[in-house]
Amino acid sequence: METRQRPKDIGQELKHGMTADVNGKTRIFAVIGCPIEHSVSPQLHNSIYRELGMNCIYVPFRVEPGCLEAAVRGFKALNVAGFNVTVPHKQSIIPLLDEIDAEAELIGAVNTVKNENGRLCGYNTDAEGFARAFREESGTGFRDKKVAILGAGGAARALAIKIALEGAAQVGIINRTEEKARDIARLVNEKTGGAALAAKYGSLESREIFAGSDIVINTTPVGMYPELDRCPLDDTYDFHAGQIAYDAIYNPAKTLFLSRAEQKGCIAVNGLRWLFYQGIYAFEIWTGKRLDEEIAAKLFDKFSNTVGGK
Ligand code: ATR
Repeated sequence: METRQRPKDIGQELKHGMTADVNGKTRIFAVIGCPIEHSVSPQLHNSIYRELGMNCIYVPFRVEPGCLEAAVRGFKALNVAGFNVTVPHKQSIIPLLDEIDAEAELIGAVNTVKNENGRLCGYNTDAEGFARAFREESGTGFRDKKVAILGAGGAARALAIKIALEGAAQVGIINRTEEKARDIARLVNEKTGGAALAAKYGSLESREIFAGSDIVINTTPVGMYPELDRCPLDDTYDFHAGQIAYDAIYNPAKTLFLSRAEQKGCIAVNGLRWLFYQGIYAFEIWTGKRLDEEIAAKLFDKFSNTVGGK
């Protein structure tokens, strides 16, 4: 989701000269993707290094799909300490790595790579970052809950597996293209032992899944800036009080999907804290440091002011 969303002012941080202190001992981190211009990860990671006074820098690289292998070999040769991976490389990078963490393997996607003395190890911090953000903002987890996921792309797959692993009673995937929802449901059931089902958007089955869900998560880009008047659910899908609505979109801060849910008395949460925590977990994997809660809160405030939607 990350690269598709536009931060408030991507140029702002750069004007403040964040590269001023680079020297021979600076550890280099990166993010690769295509496109990469809208990534907010450089802002997030460089602000952590500044806050903690660490001699590190984080830079974006646009890597075309045909150049992935060369980029990975280059990172090894240059002894880059770690890097994030975003669309379209999260799956295709897997065979190029030396090791994959168990959760990343289960999800089938890597968003964080650590260079351990020349061995590249892949992790996925998207799922864990989401689970933590969701827990903190909604005050609840997924155990015994019925969850509906809108969309069936990479984000939906990672979340569906994570939510099933956390003990959800049901994970219903609703998507415009039914086959893609079915593929994810099959995968979740294979890997986690059940609880997933799929339905085509607009079908009676999808309405039943929606109406019976405690938690409804939007992973489609529908309603993202500048399409403020669009919603991934038409108004025949009616929220009811007690449901939690979660939107992976963070710009605008309140999508039409979230405001409709709020009007019906639901808890409504956007995806900004998820984006933040997937980055914090990557930082912790690379550095072995646990970020202090107080510093994390301060960094989130800053992040939310520079990156968060209105
Ligand atoms: P990501 O990998 O970041 O999750 P993605 O692969 O682009 O993103 O997936 C986005 C999901 O949103 C897809 O399931 C897509 O539906 P299709 O599978 O039918 O393509 C869904 N999506 C995108 N635009 C949509 C729209 N205008 N209406 C409904 N669903 C949409």
